[in-house]
Amino acid sequence: MGQHAGTHFKRGGEDADETLGNRLVIHNLVQEDTRTSFIKDLRHGLTAQPKRLPPKYFYDELGSQLFEAICLLPEYYPTRAENEILTRHADEIADALDCTPVSLLELGSGSAVKTKRLIEALLRRQDDLLYIPVDISQSALEQSARVLLQSYPNLRVTAYASDYYTALVRVSETKDDRGCTLALFLGSNIGNFDAEEAQKFLRSLRSVLRAGDALLIGADLKKQPEVLEAAYDDVLGITAAFNLNLLARINREFDADFDLRAFKHVAVYNEPMGRIEMYIESTRAQAVHIRQLEIEARFEPGERIHTENSYKYTVAELSSLAISTGWTLGDTWLDGAERFSSNLFIAVAD
Ligand code: AVJ
Repeated sequence: MGQHAGTHFKRGGEDADETLGNRLVIHNLVQEDTRTSFIKDLRHGLTAQPKRLPPKYFYDELGSQLFEAICLLPEYYPTRAENEILTRHADEIADALDCTPVSLLELGSGSAVKTKRLIEALLRRQDDLLYIPVDISQSALEQSARVLLQSYPNLRVTAYASDYYTALVRVSETKDDRGCTLALFLGSNIGNFDAEEAQKFLRSLRSVLRAGDALLIGADLKKQPEVLEAAYDDVLGITAAFNLNLLARINREFDADFDLRAFKHVAVYNEPMGRIEMYIESTRAQAVHIRQLEIEARFEPGERIHTENSYKYTVAELSSLAISTGWTLGDTWLDGAERFSSNLFIAVAD
């Protein structure tokens, strides 16, 4: 698989990080796999009608940084709303698991800023903590792990640079029988899944855990289309840059000639489907060449590539999603403005 299992974290071979080295392991399960699946998805997605590309390819190094910038935008409320909830309720959440030690498993950790609230709450209850972040972006993982290890001397990190499913298999193979697990799926990452994918994901996460383990799942709530559309089409144009960076990435990695000035960012709320849809729209007729892959893609004026769905939920929908996938919905917390929800799913016995 071309992976470097058990790669120990090093930074320029300097001993400044020696104190971190034995508390950090990064398993890199992606690299070649990502390139292979990216090529497959480009061949499929650019010949499909309508054209589409999966959102996981947004997150190269620049894309991950642009997403961090999105999280600071006034229009993009989900990050701040979830942070407000976790700041207020971290102790309650930590108390929901009545066993020690609790390990923390996070899917799609990114920069892990919000995770700090829960790490601190758990470290008030137990002497040390194992944190297992999984993220498609190796750079985001390394950066966040370094920051966390420097802040918390009693933290150990076993990180997986990987897609969710590959990591879940590995986690289930290596998990010991002590204690229990609090899984985190924050930031409305669930929003990228349609109903079928969400069920598949929640079932396979459930199968890796045990009855009584918990999952804290962040979900953005259904609301007025204008509020949602502003969150995905900010005035500074950061979300547009995040979206168009997908084309720039294809230019960089596959020697393609997308003219970014001839494409524009589109974000619309599809109310019947309950989701934000993001597109990259061609502003004119054009042909694009992906030289390394010998692909030519032709675009009509106004033709779009569908690049992301971001599903919005109601608490009732989350409850039935839990029940249909081996969980039950415990507490739900909302931010003060009731825009975002944090939901504690409890794994039921099978
Ligand atoms: C990372 C999937 C939660 O859907 O809100 C933000 C991604 N895209 N702005 C979301 C995103 C455009 C984000 N998630």
